[in-house]
Amino acid sequence: MDKYAVIGNPIEHSKSPEIHAAFAQQTGESIEYSRLLGSIDDFVGDVRHFLAEGGQGLNVTIPFKQQAWRLADELSPRAHTAGAVNTLIRLDNNQLRGDNTDGVGLVRDLTVNQGFRLQGKRILMLGAGGAVRGVMRPLLEQKPKRIVIANRTASKAYSMANGLASYGQVAGCGLDELEGMQFDLIINGTAAGLEGEVPAIPDEILAKGCWCYDMLYSHQVTAFQAWGKAHQAARSLDGLGMLVEQAAESFRLWRDILPETSPVIAMLRGK
Ligand code: ATR
Repeated sequence: MDKYAVIGNPIEHSKSPEIHAAFAQQTGESIEYSRLLGSIDDFVGDVRHFLAEGGQGLNVTIPFKQQAWRLADELSPRAHTAGAVNTLIRLDNNQLRGDNTDGVGLVRDLTVNQGFRLQGKRILMLGAGGAVRGVMRPLLEQKPKRIVIANRTASKAYSMANGLASYGQVAGCGLDELEGMQFDLIINGTAAGLEGEVPAIPDEILAKGCWCYDMLYSHQVTAFQAWGKAHQAARSLDGLGMLVEQAAESFRLWRDILPETSPVIAMLRGK
């Protein structure tokens, strides 16, 4: 049986084993998928050990995505831009290919599962950390009208926008520079929700019909999702669909078959 795992620290709350077990059952692929608690000071050693034991691929999560990017022998273009790797694939020559499926997961959840058309839309991306960098390229490839990256520390938003300038539709600013702007979609990519907080943004920032999307997911309504509902967003979504979609794309990279996500999203939602 081919072995896969998710490596992170902490790791006990990861839903990936459950998601991949459901994909394997659905597709009839015979795989084993486990949780690996990575050691903070020896991520590379842990990966090598897993591969030596016959591991075929890994999902990588906080705080190791940048280290996985450096470790990979080759990178997909989207992983290259993301500066982070969430999927490692063992190649036939035993080299490691790094990919990043977070952005395509976000895009598929929005467009395929929820029916939101990104093309031509004005998008506000909140945050300028690793989570945001990971999804920018697939979002931009959907040809929105523009994406404003707004961050509490404005300098980080400016430099991320500068790095993506070749796309032409990106600008960076501080949260305090958003007054007077309006958007069709607001995506929260900050870590503020982990403390139950919401980035400080103006109330009037939602255009008519605006959607809110929180890249975070928890069993309760997230803080940003609640903010969206309270501000009359047409829809206010959490990141569960993104989580399952990024996993599906990883599964496809390893097994060459894209599983159906809706039954798995429904299963996790039902818990
Ligand atoms: P991640 O990998 O999750 O993106 P990160 O790289 O540490 O983690 O980035 C965290 C992001 O959440 C940053 O954009 C951070 O803003 P700063 O760059 O100003 O620190 C943002 N963030 C965290 N707590 C926040 C809060 N309470 N309000 C607004 N933004 C917050």
